[in-house]
Amino acid sequence: MRTLSAQFFKICTFFLVVIITTTAGVSIPSISKRETVAKCPDPNYPVFVSSYCKTLQTMTVECKNNNNARASHDQQCNQGENCIDFLLSDEVPFAMCIPVSKLLHWTNGNYNDKVCSGTIRFDSGTNGESISIGLNTYDTNGNPIQVFDVVGRVNNNQIGEVKNQHNYSQIYRQYNVHDVVTFCFIPGISDPNNPEYANKAIAYAYIVRLSAIGGKDVQVTDIEPVISQNNTLYIEN
Ligand SMILES: *[C@@H]1O[C@H](CO)[C@@H](O)[C@H](O)[C@H]1NC(C)=O
Ligand SMILES: *[C@@H]1O[C@H](CO)[C@@H](O)[C@H](O)[C@H]1NC(C)=O
Repeated sequence: MRTLSAQFFKICTFFLVVIITTTAGVSIPSISKRETVAKCPDPNYPVFVSSYCKTLQTMTVECKNNNNARASHDQQCNQGENCIDFLLSDEVPFAMCIPVSKLLHWTNGNYNDKVCSGTIRFDSGTNGESISIGLNTYDTNGNPIQVFDVVGRVNNNQIGEVKNQHNYSQIYRQYNVHDVVTFCFIPGISDPNNPEYANKAIAYAYIVRLSAIGGKDVQVTDIEPVISQNNTLYIEN
């Protein structure tokens, strides 16, 4: 009887932990999957040049050899990962496939409204480092979809904006632990133009420390940043 109730208590505790972590939406570093980055597997073109997201789950990777001859190939994300465009420290485009559970994600539905993300931040590490911020918008078929406007914010201060793009990538310097990163986008209008209605775009966003990915001469294989994300959304008018 005693062991039974001890077992029962253990099971309850387990479920309690599961419920708390699920509700808080916090990714747990020790069990979270690692990111997949662009690779140059062809020994004839071993040097990485740049990479970008082609679809929700595919990136195009450009590689070269020592004579500067180039070749590009498509690299599939693993199951359960989505592709996000980032910049390396030298502003080189760099795509990564990130487990969906770690991404901020939100959508305009079909409404022609500005929609904003939940929050994402680092809760550990060093203050004053640079981070690379990436956001992509996809349609319901997983193809890139252009939106009218995207802004990025740190602690509610706007740090960047792009218009008429499907991706927003930016390096932010002097990031301090717990600084909160958020985003908003305004969707593209529908065709024919109906001011009430806009095509549905789904935005995915993530942050990564530049020290984890480096510059284009650094061949990273995978990284595992410690991130807290809160996918509770808010709408801003
Ligand atoms: C998530 O964000 C919402 C809205 O800003 C807030 O009310 C809630 O307390 C946050 N949850 C956590 C775990 O930070
Ligand atoms: C955004 O997407 C375009 C088209 O796919 C690509 O050329 C560009 O490199 C991307 N930007 C970044 C910062 O990855």
